[in-house]
Amino acid sequence: MNRREFLAGLAALAAASSLPRALAAEAKPPWALGFEGVTEDLAPLAMEVKGEFPAACQGTLYRNGPALWARAGVRYQHWFDPDGMVQAFRIDAGGVEHKGRFVRTRRFKQEQRAGRFLFGGAGTNFDNQVAPGGNEGFNVANINVQPLNGELLAMWEAGSSYRLDPDSLETLGTLEFSDELKGVPFSAHPHRDEQGEMWNIGSVPFTRQPMLVLYHVGSNGQLRKSRAVPLDFAGYMHDFVLTPRYLVALNSSAVLGEGRNFVERMAWQPTRPSQLLVFDREDFSLRATIEVPPTFVFHFGNGWEEGEKINFTACAYRDMDIVSVGMRRLARQEPGPYHLASDLQRYSVSLDGDVQIERLGVDMEFPGYDQHRPFEAQMLCGAGGHASEASPLASAVVRVDPRSGASERFDYGEGIVVEEPLPVAGPEGGYLLHSYLDYRRQRSGVAVLKAARLADGPLATAEMERVLPLGFHGCFLPT
Ligand SMILES: [Fe+2]
Repeated sequence: MNRREFLAGLAALAAASSLPRALAAEAKPPWALGFEGVTEDLAPLAMEVKGEFPAACQGTLYRNGPALWARAGVRYQHWFDPDGMVQAFRIDAGGVEHKGRFVRTRRFKQEQRAGRFLFGGAGTNFDNQVAPGGNEGFNVANINVQPLNGELLAMWEAGSSYRLDPDSLETLGTLEFSDELKGVPFSAHPHRDEQGEMWNIGSVPFTRQPMLVLYHVGSNGQLRKSRAVPLDFAGYMHDFVLTPRYLVALNSSAVLGEGRNFVERMAWQPTRPSQLLVFDREDFSLRATIEVPPTFVFHFGNGWEEGEKINFTACAYRDMDIVSVGMRRLARQEPGPYHLASDLQRYSVSLDGDVQIERLGVDMEFPGYDQHRPFEAQMLCGAGGHASEASPLASAVVRVDPRSGASERFDYGEGIVVEEPLPVAGPEGGYLLHSYLDYRRQRSGVAVLKAARLADGPLATAEMERVLPLGFHGCFLPT
């Protein structure tokens, strides 16, 4: 036995003696099922319905999210990374049917042919990765799915949206407005105005001069106007606020610089104030740059104006640990306890720089509102609550009055992960529709609750013997 073998033997012995402890440490928590992923498209499957879905909920709930977690035994290490799969839950008088289809991005097709990961992810590096050739080569189209002009858009944030057929979910190509805007980032959180026209931002942080691109898209899918605006620094931006007169973006204190991948290039700068950038909707001119304490926000509630005050809510975090630590630990299926709750805050801003920020004391993510009245101070809905210290994932449907902070919720308790609730118009305040994972029973489902009577729990559920990977955002399109 040479010295190397001897040392290897010692190491093996040491490992063996601590094996029970090592195994206990490596045991996956039960919710890790939501991050196992799928590898194939999911054929139509009839779901088992309990209760009765209201007539107003007849239609299709579409959702998007990271789904292809592993190829050839290699796993992604961050929730941002896996290829997007669009799920469709079709609800009609006869029942509820589910199907899912991967978005055929350029990257998905290349890696499918290769049978392995070729390119790094937003938060993952592989030993043998190759450069994909520009931002579009990284595009996994995995954040949101929204309708535009009779089609669906599978949306990412650092490149183009992919167009899908809403019935077959087949990928039709990328959304391109002009040669000049080809491949320019188009965020995953467009907002609609009172006419149903689409407004959006696209963050371009890696050019020598970081830029923010603003978009106004007609309901016919044609670009009405766009403008590229230089930024003072390259803060991470994921969502924004639309009001009757303004578009408000937050240049956050998570600033993009050097690093091996997108997540590693984000650095929290605790002494750098974040900036609220207020643009005029008419011509996209920058009307005000307002410094606020360092903050990190993925998602905003809707915006409303009162006189000269611009009001909105934000699901705020005190730093970017949710990206650099939390979403990585989820991806690695590491046991808790750890906590990922955001804190809902209400902003009231004037163009002269006056800002009031009030903490509403509600843990909430994935905020949703009735898009038919986008500029009212209306009830926000979202996912919140954590059934136990050990569970880092939302177990409750939450509803909040953004003026008073008064909230109500229905908490499903341990075993259920609640995904983004969406408001559905209907009698007596309408409904909230959401997908969920029951990780104890290894089933995914859809539930509907009366928005004004959350505490009563679901009116109806539809479940199936199929576990869907936990996703991000979607939309409900009534029949
Ligand atoms: Fe988002």
